[in-house]
Amino acid sequence: MSTEFAQSVAEGLSADEKWLSSRYFYDARGDELFQAIMASPEYYLTDCEFEILREQGDAIAAVLLEAGPCEFIELGSGDGQKVGHLLDALHRRADDWVYRPVDISANSLELLAANLSPSRPWLRLDPIAGDYHEVLEGFTPGEARRVFLFLGSNLGNFGEHGSIDFLREVRAAMAPGDALLIGLDLKKAPEIVLAAYNDAAGHTRDFNLNLLARINRELGADFDLGQFEHRPEYNPETGAARSFLVSRQQQSVNIAALGQTFVFAAGERIFMEVSQKYDAAMIKALCAQSGFQPGAAFYDRKGWFTDQVWLASELAADAAEKTET
Ligand code: AVJ
Repeated sequence: MSTEFAQSVAEGLSADEKWLSSRYFYDARGDELFQAIMASPEYYLTDCEFEILREQGDAIAAVLLEAGPCEFIELGSGDGQKVGHLLDALHRRADDWVYRPVDISANSLELLAANLSPSRPWLRLDPIAGDYHEVLEGFTPGEARRVFLFLGSNLGNFGEHGSIDFLREVRAAMAPGDALLIGLDLKKAPEIVLAAYNDAAGHTRDFNLNLLARINRELGADFDLGQFEHRPEYNPETGAARSFLVSRQQQSVNIAALGQTFVFAAGERIFMEVSQKYDAAMIKALCAQSGFQPGAAFYDRKGWFTDQVWLASELAADAAEKTET
């Protein structure tokens, strides 16, 4: 049933430094809590990117549509609220493109269609329900001009190695000339970052605790949610914002589906999520290391967030093939 989930939980809670994967935050309640986080005043990321897409959408559209007809493939589209401004700007410029949101949740894709389509009769919407690894593998580079959209600083959850691996997977689905529009959260004053992951209303705390509730429900565990405290940390040098749940006392937790008991010392932490913040040097390195060339970059007025066009450059393998023929 949820074997992958069970395995991940078993692995994470058996580690010396316990961890759980933020991939599993997004059950129905998790989706709801993430909506609440995005609407909270402290969570600046959504507002900043909204501003960029609303105010600079036409400039972004001009860059993305320069090379002619294409399909826009959005990875992790969620409910489609944010991308609306971009789609409108694209529509003002041309109509020879298709929008293909990719999401693991068929439910979110239906919600997205309900949010986007009624006011946009012109929209050519072609959703793809599935895990993006599989979806990316299914694409043959060059069969259409592709522009991938990966917004919201979603890359920030992948960790250092995970980010490059993921970007290379995207790159492998692209031909030279294809592009990626990527949203990245920038390094900034620690108190601003910390507040975004510690909102006063407690949505972020609940979002983290909800994963324990999910483990209770789906894996028959007996986590006492009141015995774990939400603690965000931010390292301004590395740009890593990390969330932990800290055990308030020594306690043990049984997980029936695993037939295992896990002991938590008082003050012991579970690492829940990393939300990476970037600076220009890090972005430049990521871009080059994953087979892209930097294109136009757009920033919000505060300079807190960026949406950037990365162009698929010739891969070493492509170059080798070319010299052979
Ligand atoms: C959806 C990955 C961009 O890391 O900022 C929000 C998820 N976690 N608050 C982020 C999240 C806690 C969010 N991303």
